[in-house]
Amino acid sequence: MVSKFTLTSLATILLVLSAEADSSFFTGAVYEHARYYSKNESAREIVEINLDCYRKATELASSKGADIIVFPEYGIFPPLERAEVKKFLETIPDPKKDRVNPCEDGEAYSQRIILHTLSCIAKNNSIVVVANMGDLQKCEGDPDCPEDGDFHFNANVAFDRDGTLLMKYHKEHLFYEFGMDLARAQQNSTFETDFGTFATYICFDIDFGRMSEVGQWPTVDAVLFSTMFVDQAPQMISVQFWESWALANNKTLLAANIQIPGFLAVGSGIFHGEEGALAYTFNPDGISKLVVARVPKRDFESVAPYTSITASTADGQWEWKDDGKDVPEVCSRTLLNDSTVITRDYRCMEENMTDYTFVKLTEPKGRVDACNNGVCCFVDYETDGLTEDYYLGVFNGTYNHFGRYNWCEEDCVMARCDSLGDRPCATFPMKSETVFRHLHLKGNFTSKVVYPSVTESGMRLVPRSDWHHHTHDNLLSDIHFDSESGRKLLVAGLKGRCYDKDPPYRR
Ligand SMILES: *[C@@H]1O[C@H](CO)[C@@H](O)[C@H](O)[C@H]1NC(C)=O
Ligand SMILES: *[C@@H]1O[C@H](CO)[C@@H](O)[C@H](O)[C@H]1NC(C)=O
Ligand SMILES: *[C@@H]1O[C@H](CO)[C@@H](O)[C@H](O)[C@H]1NC(C)=O
Ligand SMILES: *[C@@H]1O[C@H](CO)[C@@H](O)[C@H](O)[C@H]1NC(C)=O
Ligand SMILES: *[C@@H]1O[C@H](CO)[C@@H](O)[C@H](O)[C@H]1NC(C)=O
Ligand SMILES: *[C@@H]1O[C@H](CO)[C@@H](O)[C@H](O)[C@H]1NC(C)=O
Ligand SMILES: *[C@@H]1O[C@H](CO)[C@@H](O)[C@H](O)[C@H]1NC(C)=O
Ligand SMILES: *[C@@H]1O[C@H](CO)[C@@H](O)[C@H](O)[C@H]1NC(C)=O
Repeated sequence: MVSKFTLTSLATILLVLSAEADSSFFTGAVYEHARYYSKNESAREIVEINLDCYRKATELASSKGADIIVFPEYGIFPPLERAEVKKFLETIPDPKKDRVNPCEDGEAYSQRIILHTLSCIAKNNSIVVVANMGDLQKCEGDPDCPEDGDFHFNANVAFDRDGTLLMKYHKEHLFYEFGMDLARAQQNSTFETDFGTFATYICFDIDFGRMSEVGQWPTVDAVLFSTMFVDQAPQMISVQFWESWALANNKTLLAANIQIPGFLAVGSGIFHGEEGALAYTFNPDGISKLVVARVPKRDFESVAPYTSITASTADGQWEWKDDGKDVPEVCSRTLLNDSTVITRDYRCMEENMTDYTFVKLTEPKGRVDACNNGVCCFVDYETDGLTEDYYLGVFNGTYNHFGRYNWCEEDCVMARCDSLGDRPCATFPMKSETVFRHLHLKGNFTSKVVYPSVTESGMRLVPRSDWHHHTHDNLLSDIHFDSESGRKLLVAGLKGRCYDKDPPYRR
């Protein structure tokens, strides 16, 4: 017979062991949702259909041990005109003032089904839920109040494992979105859970300094990011840019995107500040997917990430293989008409590179350099033979995105690109045949944050075992890529973001 003492000791040891194991990592999940919408159905029906997908995804995430699940921006309803979007908004109480638990307080929330359902999804699965919705706040009397008497905020909410509202955050950088109003003030978007401290941000926020500043707070374990992202080649394609963000800010990023290829939105994943992508999906096919990975906590050694990708649709759930198989060679909206089947015909945009200095790579191996307004950049490379067009592009200045938003960039990028009219490097194919074995890209930057990326044919992220990056004290940043078997590179880039020189953001 085993003595009572031994059993107790054993239980204690097991408890200590599991507590220790638990404290070194948490398990994160992001859901890339093929949002449902139809003009013929009521707001309530649309919301219910989307939330039902969220419920199934969360049950799946929970079965895989996830502590947290992040949902995309505009995953429950689409961006719409002001009068139309109002039907989808709910008044979200301030969790800093009162304890708010819509699942427990069913009666008060019977007409706020988004809040009620998200809270119950969290509670039923004992998981932290981060999701995007709309917050309607009456504002009569406020001098800034819109004519219809309400503020409409694009909001992220976070619910604790018991369904309690932990945080609401109003998007601080709207991307057009004329049905929504800008956050009233800068917020502290951090909150605490039993497995760490997190901050949350939404889509366009990632292009500005505040998210980077908060992301670098040493107390923050990870940034939870909901997005419906507009892909822009060559340096700002979803998963490519998420990985860059994590590496440049040395902080884990959990990024959940919409899956609507015809609206330029695809790509989600979990990215570590030093290890890069732990798991990600980039496959334009109209299929919703759940990505799960174990994430080492801040200041802990890496752990085996135990990753999984699972398709999760109305037709069922299945293990997802061959991610990337549906990536087309050409996605440019400049070259192709708008997609006719938005779930299938993937489209992307290009960054406006009219003011870049470009130099073509002409030899199979060699060195090329170029300068633009003080930023000087060089690339030293070796290929198995150069049959496609590659350019080194350099830029320093205020950069106009989407014909509307201006910010400061110092860019140094080597990319496969095709010419169009008199522009040498105008569109960016997503596939390539040119095998690179070595590449060293170097530039000088005054930006404090420089975003590094290396991608290969099919918009795949080159594994971190094949490249690393450095930012040196003397304003130099560089990327070293070396691969014995070679890789068909698309892009190697360094994008400096001189946040301190940005003009004030205007929506
Ligand atoms: C929506 O309603 C219109 C007019 O009633 C009809 O022509 C159309 O087929 C409907 N669309 C869907 C997706 O049901
Ligand atoms: C939560 O669980 C309760 C009790 O099993 C169930 O009635 C409810 O439908 C569940 N709600 C969600 C959103 O999962
Ligand atoms: C932000 O909020 C957290 C509480 O979640 C607090 O600990 C932290 O000090 C705040 N940071 C700032 C700069 O206000
Ligand atoms: C990145 O952050 C970790 C803490 O999570 C720290 O230990 C490490 O030194 C940082 N790396 C760099 C290059 O600053
Ligand atoms: C785009 O649409 C126009 C007019 O509908 C058509 O003539 C053209 O062939 C289309 N181009 C492509 C690349 O599909
Ligand atoms: C960057 O390097 C170029 C070439 O060496 C130099 O002319 C320029 O002054 C440098 N810029 C800064 C800010 O150091
Ligand atoms: C880029 O341009 C800005 C403003 O013109 C200048 O202050 C900065 O030094 C330039 N960057 C480099 C690396 O020279
Ligand atoms: C691209 O940038 C140039 C120069 O800044 C500007 O003149 C042009 O209008 C921009 N094009 C688009 C499509 O935004």
